[in-house]
Amino acid sequence: MSRHTRTRSGVSRRGFVGFLGAGAASVGIGTVGAAPAAHAAAPGATAATLPAPSSPGYWREVERLFMLDKDILFMNVGTVGSPPREVVETVDRVHREVAAGAISAYSDFPDVRAVAARGYGCDPDELVISHNTSDGMSKILAGLALEEGDEILTTNHEHSGGNVPMAVARDRHGVVIKRVALPVGNRQRAEDYVELFRRAITSRTKALVFSAPTYKTGTMLPIAMLAKLAQDHGLISVVDGAHIPGMMAYDFHELGVDFLAGSAAKWQCGPGGTGILYIRNKVLARYNPNPLPEFWPVVSSGYPAEGGVPPRSDGPTESYDIASDLQTVGNSSLAVMAGVRHVCEVWDRIGRQRIQDHVLGLSAYLKELIVERWGVDSLYSPKDDPRLVCALTSFAPFRDPRDVHDGQKTATLVARLKDEHGIVIRTSDFPVIGSARSHQAVRVSTHLFHQKEDVERVVDAVWELSGDMG
Ligand SMILES: Cc1ncc(COP(=O)(O)O)c(C=O)c1O
Repeated sequence: MSRHTRTRSGVSRRGFVGFLGAGAASVGIGTVGAAPAAHAAAPGATAATLPAPSSPGYWREVERLFMLDKDILFMNVGTVGSPPREVVETVDRVHREVAAGAISAYSDFPDVRAVAARGYGCDPDELVISHNTSDGMSKILAGLALEEGDEILTTNHEHSGGNVPMAVARDRHGVVIKRVALPVGNRQRAEDYVELFRRAITSRTKALVFSAPTYKTGTMLPIAMLAKLAQDHGLISVVDGAHIPGMMAYDFHELGVDFLAGSAAKWQCGPGGTGILYIRNKVLARYNPNPLPEFWPVVSSGYPAEGGVPPRSDGPTESYDIASDLQTVGNSSLAVMAGVRHVCEVWDRIGRQRIQDHVLGLSAYLKELIVERWGVDSLYSPKDDPRLVCALTSFAPFRDPRDVHDGQKTATLVARLKDEHGIVIRTSDFPVIGSARSHQAVRVSTHLFHQKEDVERVVDAVWELSGDMG
């Protein structure tokens, strides 16, 4: 195979000029590489200053970074986040500059990917700013070399963002989808989940595909342990990590997975329509010694039109920048990309570990209060194994156990919570082992713009309403 010439930063010069074409080149070349960096917020330029993290009012000041409607207590970050004011200002400013200058954005955005990759513990050649989790999951599953009879081992608590591209692989290639039934609640340990997957692996299994956390119960499936299981069986690991960016301070290399798709607009609070896509692109023996799986960038205008790419790396240095190929898809949005860069800088400024500690601390407090009022059996989320917890908390809100099947009543409670108490949470429904019918729960997200008082407020309000509704 002839080798394609690439710079160290991964921008394919030949593919790049050929791709732009003569007409676009005069505008586009100036734009590529240079413009996104120029438009992103200069570090600290618009950054609101925060007091010392140890000061008592620290998280109140963090809350002030956000524009959220003060009349509403928004606790549904698992569906969508809210960008900080300074990020909204950056997006707005760049939108205006782009409109005034009719500036194109044919770019692989190396500066934005570099900032994001730093925050997620990986390298820019492994990090793509995608459109959202669903986009990332689709690109992963469509890019794998799956064949008829190959099995994907997944769970019965997946989101359509993962289920749909798996269904396409099934209907298109004859891939077989097998599902592990996930237990719910606080009785499991991380090892139990690994064992469930281990028992379901067959000689036809090609990939483990799982959400961590699951959006239904907020169970953080133990990613590194499941990645190790996959490695031991020579399987590809794919994580639907919709809720990971911005919530968990994970180092993606350390997770040892092959692929992870997440949202940048949920917990990461970036502009709408943004996601984080991680693709293992080098072999770091410490975390995952297995060869890189065959993978094709199915949506790309950066992949070389002639000459192909080098074989994938078998060592600690990438053989080419696969993220660049996936990032380059026609004209992009400088404003949105500047917003992603800026919000990653805000998170890094606050500290990703500090954010994780805060949001998990609030979730732990919420679980304590739920257990006090409703009892531990009302919890669908794990509580005691720290490897399984996250900042999504699901529980059964009614006192009569028969109500766990009443979807209408649960939806009414969520609607009344908004109308009468100004609190936004969501419903969640899922199969439970041993139950013929799905369970209906409510799900609360605790984030960096929340305080302990907000947790107390939502618990009091749900308790009052569920009592009132009988
Ligand atoms: C586990 C999971 N996967 C995928 C998605 C889809 O997310 P996105 O809107 O980023 O595509 C969600 C959305 O809530 C989710 O919870």
